[in-house]
Formats: sequence, C-alpha cells, structure tokens
Amino acid sequence: MSLRNVYQSRLEALIEVVLPLRPLLDARMAKFYSARLWRSILPEKLSQQSTSLRPADLDIVYDQLLNFCRNLYGINGESTSDVGPPKNEFEVLAYDIFVQASALKSACVPPVPLLFRTGNEDEHLKEGQKLNALFMMSAKKYVEVEDMSFFVSQYARLGDLHRVVDFGSGKGYLSAMLNMRYGLSVLGLELSSANVAAARVRTERMIKQWSSLCRSVGLESKTQPPGNGSLVFSSCEVTRNSDLDEIVADSQSSKSNVDDSYLLCGLHTCGSLGNDLLDIFRRNSSAKALVAIGCCYHFMAEAYSHLPEATGEVAGDNCLFPMSSYLNSIRFSLGRTARMLASQSPERILLSGIETSVQSMFFRAVLQELLGRHGVHLGSLDRVGKIDVTGGIDFVQYVAAARRVITIPSEISDDDARACLADFESLKSTIAVIILIRVMLAPCLEQIVLLDRALFLLDQKNVADVHLVSLFSPVVSPRTWAICAYKN
Ligand SMILES: C[S@@+](CC[C@H](N)C(=O)[O-])C[C@H]1O[C@@H](n2cnc3c(N)ncnc32)[C@H](O)[C@@H]1O
Repeated sequence: MSLRNVYQSRLEALIEVVLPLRPLLDARMAKFYSARLWRSILPEKLSQQSTSLRPADLDIVYDQLLNFCRNLYGINGESTSDVGPPKNEFEVLAYDIFVQASALKSACVPPVPLLFRTGNEDEHLKEGQKLNALFMMSAKKYVEVEDMSFFVSQYARLGDLHRVVDFGSGKGYLSAMLNMRYGLSVLGLELSSANVAAARVRTERMIKQWSSLCRSVGLESKTQPPGNGSLVFSSCEVTRNSDLDEIVADSQSSKSNVDDSYLLCGLHTCGSLGNDLLDIFRRNSSAKALVAIGCCYHFMAEAYSHLPEATGEVAGDNCLFPMSSYLNSIRFSLGRTARMLASQSPERILLSGIETSVQSMFFRAVLQELLGRHGVHLGSLDRVGKIDVTGGIDFVQYVAAARRVITIPSEISDDDARACLADFESLKSTIAVIILIRVMLAPCLEQIVLLDRALFLLDQKNVADVHLVSLFSPVVSPRTWAICAYKN
C-alpha cells in the first residue's frame, strides 16, 4: 500500500470514529446541567443504555470505565492484552477509540532508528533532572531535546545535510544540542527577542563550561563545542510568506562557504507556525528535509465549520486547517474543543488524575444552573476563567471565586449555592463520563491534524517521502508525533 493510501485510510477511519461523537465534542460543558445535555450529546447506543441507569449505577459505570481506560493505556501496570472484554456500551466505545488511536503507530515505520534507551521513563526523567543543571533545561525538556536531536541528526544524515533551521527555537535548547552534540550548523529563528537573548546567554555559558559539562555526562567522544558562526539565533517572526533564503542570508556574517541545503525543524511549533513551516518547506528549494512537532492546535484557524452558530472559523486566506486536498474536498472541520483536545495526552491525564478536570467542570456547570435559577444567563463570551479547585475548595468557595470574575447577584446566598449543588451531586458522574470520553479521543483528533499535514505534503510534486514518527513517551510529553519529509 502506498504511503498516501495508508494515511488516507487512517484518516478515514479516525473521521468515522469522531463524526458520531461531534455533539459530545462540541457541547458547551458549562451548560451541561442547565441545558440538560447529558443524553442528547451521547451517541444513540449510549443514550439508550443510560436511560436504564440510576445515578448510583452510573457512578459504578464511571469508576469501571475509568479503570478500563487506565488498563487500556497500561496505567495500572497491565498490558492491553490483559484487559478484559468491555462490560457495557461505554466501554465498547472507549475500546473502539483506543484501537483507532493506537493504529497509526503500528502503521508507521520510522525512516531512521530512534534513540534506544535502557531503563524506564522514571529513571530517565531522574537522569534528566541531574542533567538539567548542566544543560540548563527541565528534565522533561531534556528528554524531548535528547530524542529529537538524535532523530534530526540521523535524518539529516540520510540526505547528507549539515545545516538546520530551527523554527520557534525558544531558548535554544534543541538548536544547541543539534550543534554541540551532533556538529550540525544551526540557525534558530525565534519571535521573542527575550528568548533569543536567553538562548545566546545560555549558549555562551555552555561554551565556557563545555569540557566539564561533557566529562560529567560522559559525552566526550560524541560532542564538539560550537564552531564559529555555526550556532546563530535570530529574532524574527516567521510567517507563511517568509523568504527563507533571505532570512538565512541576513543571519550569515559571511557569504563565503555557503551550503544552501537545509533541514527545517521545529520542536512544538505552536498553532500557525506548524502550518507555516510546512508551507515554507514546500516552497523553498533550499529546504531539502523537514522534521516538525506541532502543538497548540487551537490557534489554527479553520476553513470550514460544522457548527450552526458563526464561530469566526470561516473560510478565508488565513485559514490553516485543513491543508490537504482530501480534507478540503470533504470540507472537514474539527471545531475549537476538538482542536484544544488534540494537544492533550490520555496517558498523562489518566496517570496524573482526571479528577481535577471533572471537579472544575462540575462546579462550572452547577454555577450556570444556579445563575439560571436567579434569572442570570451568561453569554458565550462571559468567561468564568480557570478557578483553581486543586486545594479541595467547596462549591460555596467556588462561587465566591467566580464573583471576582463575573457579576453574580448578591441575593444568591451560600444556602442557594448549597441547595443547587445538592440537586446535581448525584449526577456528577454524567459530566465525568463525557470528560473521560473526550480525553480518550484526544490522540484521534491530533492524528487527524497530523495526517492532514502528511497528505498536504504528499500533494506536493516536489515531496518524495513523508513519515509520521512518535518520538517521545506521551507520559513525559503530550505532543510526541514528528512529521518528517524529504524532497525529491
Ligand atoms: C512552544 S515554544 C517551543 C520552543 C522551543 N522549540 C522548545 O521546544 O523549547 C514555541 C516557540 O515558538 C515561538 N514562535 C511562535 N510563533 C512564531 C513565529 N511566527 N515566528 C518565530 N517564532 C515563533 C514562540 O515565541 C516560542 O518560543
């Protein structure tokens, strides 16, 4: 099967999972109780099953579903093959979503070897904690940079490329590692001048301490201090129309020895930068290879909308999703919640606990009902914002915190709040089930974005090969997928 067929059939399968769940994805959860959304946003089979459930039964269904999902992801230490059969329609759905979310990994063979580590993630994170003092980055960032720099160096070698342009280079973690550990010549492009300054200071410090740094982590044989001019950070805003050759030429101190073939890379290129990078790669003849990991997909403007209300996500020149001719041909749209979810990882959320999200959304939805009972109807633009519920605050305290953000009539008393909460306490599991299903869907949603980007690259006549590779552990880092490509 050609790569295009593999990607397109994956995309079709993922869309098939997502489409029936759109009401659940698009629902405004603040209105969950006030608009009595529970059954109306569930797919038919789940809705039918839920009618026969009393609140206490539903608590059990939720607890079992959470456990089932944790088992699927191996959070409880079981392997997926040990997970028993689904016990009800909720578990059947969770299982189907999981199967689809996991299929891309087995369909994609990395084009070069990935970093092989012995030991488990925890040990590696601890190691990263130690190294963080030396490389001046957090343990999580160290793990990401270590994996990505190894992969980029191997991928560059395929095409005998020695120059890299790092898009959205931030404080220069990846750029510095590519240069110092793998000897690649790197230009980091970064919007924030404060980040550029920090990257330069950090590099200076690393150069000074380089020998002792290497000795302490046993890197002597693999590393070299940056050569003159081979690690440069430039302050610039990359846009879709950026002229890469001009940017590169401007950042070079001398025009001699110009090797005009680059690999373009980006680690967690947020929102539009991720899309623009692909467009620049496609247009620029000096760009021979690409390795990019995206993030913050909610910043992408969408060309189409399936929502009845105008959401601002209407067709126009600046729309970034979808990119491929295939998804454009079916005018596919995700919607804002789906784009937000696309940046999340079930592994991380199921491990760290989903309770905080559930509690926060539960209080928010009860607040909406409380206000409605007193004739206050919040519009979609009236945001309560994030209220920290991690300290175990009760609903009365939550309402007090909300009063600081929105106008809540003074006649709403603490007793009113307690009474309203009491009416919905037994229905907390309903909101919890929806949040859990949404979390399970997150990888499917991210993969739709990634596969769209992969098909967009395959749409180009000058692109020969496009691979999707999951580089990090999703427990460590939620956005793990790199899209990589070579030109003809
Ligand atoms: C999520 S951070 C990742 C930083 C870095 N790659 C890392 O992994 O540590 C994204 C970075 O991209 C930069 N950025 C966002 N849009 C940009 C643009 N249009 N041009 C250049 N840099 C941009 C941001 O300032 C930010 O530093």
